[in-house]
Amino acid sequence: MLSLVFALFAVATSAWAISWPLILDAGSTGGNVWIELTYTIHVPQGPPSTVTTGPWFFWCGLQPQGGGVVQPVLQWGEDAPGYVNPNAPFPHIWAMVLWDVPASGLNNDVSRISNGVWAAQGDQIANSASFNSGFWTQTASVISGQATGASTSTNITANQYFHDDAAHDGGANFFLCESELDGQQTNQWNFPVLFTDIFIRAKNSNGVQALCASARPFSDGNGFANMTGFSMFDANTCHFASLVLTPP
Ligand SMILES: *[C@@H]1O[C@H](CO)[C@@H](O)[C@H](O)[C@H]1NC(C)=O
Ligand SMILES: *[C@@H]1O[C@H](CO)[C@@H](O)[C@H](O)[C@H]1NC(C)=O
Repeated sequence: MLSLVFALFAVATSAWAISWPLILDAGSTGGNVWIELTYTIHVPQGPPSTVTTGPWFFWCGLQPQGGGVVQPVLQWGEDAPGYVNPNAPFPHIWAMVLWDVPASGLNNDVSRISNGVWAAQGDQIANSASFNSGFWTQTASVISGQATGASTSTNITANQYFHDDAAHDGGANFFLCESELDGQQTNQWNFPVLFTDIFIRAKNSNGVQALCASARPFSDGNGFANMTGFSMFDANTCHFASLVLTPP
């Protein structure tokens, strides 16, 4: 049930979201798609103590055409099925969880949800999502701070969750990063969320540099997305040194 609720939130536009997309245009790129994403998220402070409704999610992910999303998510106010570090000796506020939210009607509309990784404020968590030979694999691993060493991973059969096409390449032309805040107190979001070392790799180089080079800091009224330090890691791979999502 929770996963179904999440699926609805994840595919619909959330009530309160700053959302940064990079969409490879199918026509002008000859059907190029993203096949790998890595990023590090820096665990922020918790929501203000007055906030009792949620959940609040911060994430970057890849969306296959036809719906659904592959997304390592830092979440508050939403339980994971279990935790890899249930006795972590710090307040259990934020957990990193790997979600595969299926396209509508696939996998009985049930998301694959990994066990969570509790992480403390200031911890850095390295995340990846990659498509390889019909499988989507995700990993999350705490690389510094109090939860260092805690990790989780998933590996799913892509066509069980997402629509396939003749290219059999995962079909994920849509990258995005988002603050996805649900509940009635989203206007109390009052802290920045920092992402670093963002690498987004495409199947080939078609359209990649032009698309990524066009990214500019912006606001959509629900917050600010400020990406900095763009470079091409290689011809197929965009790199951004950082992204900060901040409240309006
Ligand atoms: C994912 O699972 C498939 C099928 O069991 C396996 O062939 C593949 O090596 C796995 N990939 C990873 C990264 O674990
Ligand atoms: C984006 O972040 C950079 C580096 O922190 C800062 O210098 C710049 O003013 C910010 N730009 C906007 C539009 O917020």
